[in-house]
Amino acid sequence: MRKKLMIHDFYQMKQGGRKITWLTSYDFPTAQFAEAAGLDMILVGDSLGMCVYGYPGTVPVTMDQCIVHCDAVRRGAPNTFVIGDMPFLSYQTSDEKAVENAGRFLKEANVDAVKLEGGVRAASRIKAIVEAGILVVGHIGLTPQSSGVLGGHKAQGRTADAAKLVVEDALAVQNAGAQMILVEAVPPEVTRFIHQKLSIPVLSIGAGPHCDGQLLIVSDLIGQFQAFTPKFVKKYCNVADVIVKAMSEYCEDVRTGKFPGEEHCYRMIEGEEPKFLKLMQNR
Ligand code: KIV
Repeated sequence: MRKKLMIHDFYQMKQGGRKITWLTSYDFPTAQFAEAAGLDMILVGDSLGMCVYGYPGTVPVTMDQCIVHCDAVRRGAPNTFVIGDMPFLSYQTSDEKAVENAGRFLKEANVDAVKLEGGVRAASRIKAIVEAGILVVGHIGLTPQSSGVLGGHKAQGRTADAAKLVVEDALAVQNAGAQMILVEAVPPEVTRFIHQKLSIPVLSIGAGPHCDGQLLIVSDLIGQFQAFTPKFVKKYCNVADVIVKAMSEYCEDVRTGKFPGEEHCYRMIEGEEPKFLKLMQNR
């Protein structure tokens, strides 16, 4: 069994130029697969709203849902660094509320760190949570909880002025004390600049290769999420096809009497059947 990596290991990986591998997971079996595959970190993202519950976005996701899923993932991946994603309105309203909710992730689901969205605007929340002794991963660039303000799920930092704002967000996250940062949907040139400027590990989802590691949403990677596929996703398999094929074959087998077969049936203990039939004779 591999030793569980901790925050100092990720700093060493950054220093040694070894890439950090990171995927989302939302449930016990997927977390087991992620740990078996040797993932360095797991994010229990609020993308579970779309990937598990079928919501149109992440905004409806609640703290209680996040805790339940983090708890299941922790049980599935006891030796992997697990990060809980703070859902919309669990930290936006005050530093106190942010600390309280970040603490719930640790107390109730035993995660290793929390992630929250926002750069300059989230700096005071990050500082408060870090001061409470909780590891924080910042999240800048495309921040889905505020996609309405950003004009939709669009790449960020594509003009010089917009790129400058993304860099300012990155610096604000580091200065507030976050131990890692995730950059989402930003051109690689901008991520490279951020990576050169920051001393904390910089992770990318759709922000190119010039950073310390990559994140993808597991439901995209395995071809489970059907609604849309962002440009930055690489699909490694298509479980939807496999599952639908298996289910259709099952339906066919039931309808044609092919299932269940002999091998799927329990047998009576030897010699019991005649006794049973005799017992039932006058009934
Ligand atoms: O919720 C999530 O999975 C995320 C990723 C989109 C970065 O925050």
